Amino acid sequence: MTTLRWLRLGWILAFAWCLLRCGTLSFVNGHERPLNASSRPFRVVLSTCLWQRAELSEFVLSHYRNMSLELAARQDPIQLDMVVAGSEEEARRVAQNYGAFYVDVQNEPLGRKHNAALALAREQAPDLDALVVVGSDDVVNANYFVMLRDAFTGASFALQSPLPLMEPVPQTIQPRHHVLGLLDIYFLELKSGRLVYSAGYKTFENPIFGSMGLGRAYSGALLRLLDWTLWDDDLNSRLDRSAATNLITRAPLPAENALVYLGKHHDVVAVDIKTAAFASSGLGNNIWSFDILLEASSKSGRLHAFEDIDDVPSFFQTHFSGTFWTALLLLRNELIEKERRAKAPHDEL
Ligand SMILES: *[C@@H]1O[C@H](CO)[C@@H](O)[C@H](O)[C@H]1NC(C)=O
Ligand SMILES: *[C@@H]1O[C@H](CO)[C@@H](O)[C@H](O)[C@H]1NC(C)=O
Repeated sequence: MTTLRWLRLGWILAFAWCLLRCGTLSFVNGHERPLNASSRPFRVVLSTCLWQRAELSEFVLSHYRNMSLELAARQDPIQLDMVVAGSEEEARRVAQNYGAFYVDVQNEPLGRKHNAALALAREQAPDLDALVVVGSDDVVNANYFVMLRDAFTGASFALQSPLPLMEPVPQTIQPRHHVLGLLDIYFLELKSGRLVYSAGYKTFENPIFGSMGLGRAYSGALLRLLDWTLWDDDLNSRLDRSAATNLITRAPLPAENALVYLGKHHDVVAVDIKTAAFASSGLGNNIWSFDILLEASSKSGRLHAFEDIDDVPSFFQTHFSGTFWTALLLLRNELIEKERRAKAPHDEL
């Protein structure tokens, strides 16, 4: 009889111990260990297409190569690789010079060219965590990548829910995002040195449509779900819109859960560098010239009004690495010099 009672007590104690123990375990898992489940660094692949404007491409790739070294040296490192689709020998040279993977493909249609870069990313980094699409004239700062990792790993407590009415989500079930976009953007007119900020589109039907093409990012899981196609092959314009439409129709839930935010509130800076004002800058690759943009930001236009940045050098020195501003000035001088030579070729003789 007593033995049976002891046995019963034993069972009760064992059960209680288990409850406590399992509870503790899940507490530890929930709060302290979720972010480092795998010890490899968060892996980002930057995808871009090059066409002409070799000096600018070189500057942009140099920026990202430097960024990749900077991110790899962090305490919580981020791995940044580049894939480039180009259509000229010059593009291959530039890409290889800066350690980018390269694929050669006809320039048009552009949809196919972009998809070729994506296919290269799949080939070289099938396990990537995030793919970021940037133009060959677009730069983002280091904070962009940190925010990206936080959003895609569910580690982000800095970001508020985009829906102001929602209760804050407890940290343990912070959702992972699969699409990230920036609402705001800076434009630099390199020749004059004018830098302006716009808070982005005034109205949009869907957050993804509201985000800039510059710096839009997709998770690896989402790309695998979409079988690594984002754009319609035969497009030559409106690629950002094509990708957004594809996402919304083919992956409605991740699209709805996109994190679209104002970079300005988080020290995230994305700059589109305009060089069309240089007569010799290499033709119509700047589809959105600064003048067209000015019109788009007018009262009746689609973009929020431009705000001028007064102290451009200190802006870049604050948000980018030490060498960035100097390198930008060198690029500007190089283009001014090139323009001078093109205007007066016989002066050289
Ligand atoms: C997570 O990984 C980073 C970088 O490897 C390390 O600094 C940090 O201490 C790790 N955190 C935990 C909780 O293991
Ligand atoms: C990248 O780093 C190199 C070496 O420090 C420097 O010469 C170059 O100007 C940097 N490029 C940019 C765009 O900052």
